[in-house]
Amino acid sequence: MMKLTTWMHGVLFVGIAGLAMMVSGCGEGGEGPIVAPPDPPAEYADKHMPAGWWADDKIVEEGRKLFIGETNPDVNCASCHGKDGKPVKAGARDFRVADRMKLYSDSVWFWRISEGVPNTKMKAWKSKLPEEDRWKLVAFERNFGLKGQEWDASKKAWVPVGSVAAAPAADAKDAKKGAKKGATPAGGKKK
Ligand code: HEC
Repeated sequence: MMKLTTWMHGVLFVGIAGLAMMVSGCGEGGEGPIVAPPDPPAEYADKHMPAGWWADDKIVEEGRKLFIGETNPDVNCASCHGKDGKPVKAGARDFRVADRMKLYSDSVWFWRISEGVPNTKMKAWKSKLPEEDRWKLVAFERNFGLKGQEWDASKKAWVPVGSVAAAPAADAKDAKKGAKKGATPAGGKKK
């Protein structure tokens, strides 16, 4: 009898402790432990920042205006993520946390902005933002934690801007074409 009670207390305690951990994990900004994001689906895996954009202040500035809702009041990332990158809505990703954000490739970043994150307040933006605008947002947001860096797709790492070997001319042309193509209606299939 005594033994059973002790055992039951144990189960109860572990259960409550586990629940408390879950709740605190989700409550505090939803940040939780730093883990790598999932790989982007195939259709996003090969998408990268258009050539030259990481270093282009004009692009970053356009990204800033999009982010704070100046370009389009319907698109206001800052209303959750904060103007200065300090989240103002619980659960919104904090882009200042470089240790986490450096685990995100530019493709993951772009994918999440395009498709959103299921079961969170982060919705899909692809119907409101052409591909070019989504890249401008990536260029701006990376400055919160990864200022002065760009994604090196061959090294799969963030490196100082300008240190990625110049792409062969053909690739650069493709990248530009891709960006333009993406700017056509809503950047995705219409249903
Ligand atoms: C209504 C609030 C809200 C708005 C507006 C919003 N976000 Fe988010 N965003 C979130 C939340 C919440 C998360 C965290 C989702 C999660 O738990 O993975 C998030 C996550 C993200 C992530 C990281 C995704 C990941 O896998 O961790 C990116 C990138 C992002 N948002 C970009 C943007 C951009 C760009 C905009 C504007 C076009 C925007 N967000 C607008 C709430 C918002």
